[in-house]
Amino acid sequence: MTILLTGGTGYIGSHTAAVLVEAGYEVVLLDNLSNSRPEVLERLRQVTGRTLPFVEADVRDRPKLAAVLREYGCTAVIHFAGLKAVGESVRQPLAYFDNNVGGTLALLQAMQEAGVATIVFSSSATVYGEPQYLPLDEAHPTSAANPYGRTKLHIEEMLSDLCRAEPAWRAACLRYFNPAGAHPSGLIGEDPNGVPNNLMPYITKVASGELPSLGIFGNDYPTPDGTGVRDYIHVMDVAAGHVAALSFLQREAGWHAINLGTGRGYSVLEMLRAFEQACDHAIAHEFKARRPGDIASCYANPAKAASVLGWRATRGIEEMCESAWRWCRASKGATRSP
Ligand code: NAD
Ligand code: WQD
Repeated sequence: MTILLTGGTGYIGSHTAAVLVEAGYEVVLLDNLSNSRPEVLERLRQVTGRTLPFVEADVRDRPKLAAVLREYGCTAVIHFAGLKAVGESVRQPLAYFDNNVGGTLALLQAMQEAGVATIVFSSSATVYGEPQYLPLDEAHPTSAANPYGRTKLHIEEMLSDLCRAEPAWRAACLRYFNPAGAHPSGLIGEDPNGVPNNLMPYITKVASGELPSLGIFGNDYPTPDGTGVRDYIHVMDVAAGHVAALSFLQREAGWHAINLGTGRGYSVLEMLRAFEQACDHAIAHEFKARRPGDIASCYANPAKAASVLGWRATRGIEEMCESAWRWCRASKGATRSP
């Protein structure tokens, strides 16, 4: 099977490419390099021992997408390509609808033209909005708290309508919780442009001395230590979940929403302490006001993935921190924080 990975040189796409190759799949990476660098391709060659086909293109280019699907004989698509910064989506909602929803529409039309009807979509736990209960299972009501989350919800609904209209379609919407960590080789990892929004890459930059201190957004939440609790999941476990989803879709048509989480929440302070263990030095931090839009706690009920995919996360926060630190030292050269 040949799988097209849109957004394939990005954080989760590149790790999934490595795991798919190891599982015996042929992959084609497509990316417009708006949030990743071509250097990833050489690192993937070192990791996989293969030069993976790469197409620099935008998913909104429907004719190009149809041509690529045909040229490589793709049988399925994993759709990672998208903008993912919540704050940016609030400031630039049209850019997010154009890129994420418009891009997905063009991709689906290209797939229809090329006769490809299997897709795994990078959705997000953000579609659950403010949790009404925890842990979150797939039956939890969905809602959008920001334009980014609304794009994910709209795409899930587009896929649901398509699968209902055309029974040959197979779609798995994988609702990622909080991916973190890096490939064990230290050759690929999260490499965000600019100052990171997310906790783990921010902590990593403080640990390496690139940023002076971590601001902890609120320590007055109704959580064990007052800081936000999230379901951090190793990116290699997320990648493995995609392999399991592809196998599942070979057996099951229709539309499916499936959580990719560990079922265990960790607080900001717990992640900070775990990272200090991994890098063997203290990480400067100070408490700040809550970040607007943040929720206190969010973690998955991972039972459906276990039952329908036969998949569970196997790596803990120690491995997430160790692998992120290894990647940081290998890619940037770490200096002890002041
Ligand atoms: P990323 O930014 O590292 O990867 C996304 C890739 O898509 C980038 O390489 C970017 O250049 C590419 N891209 C963006 N728009 C494109 C377009 N129009 N055409 C072609 N390529 C385009 O992000 P990531 O963390 O790897 O996330 C991958 C997917 O998973 C995204 O859809 C994101 O919304 C989703 N997701 C991420 C997280 C997370 O915390 N990282 C959580 C839940 C869901
Ligand atoms: C985690 C915790 C913060 C940074 C976001 C998106 C979600 C998904 C994953 C795409 C929270 C705290 C963070 C910092 C901090 N992305 N924090 N200081 O907000 O759970 O989810 O990324 O789909 O859609 O909403 O992840 O890493 O930003 O925050 O204290 O500098 O760390 O308050 O409690 P979040 P995050």
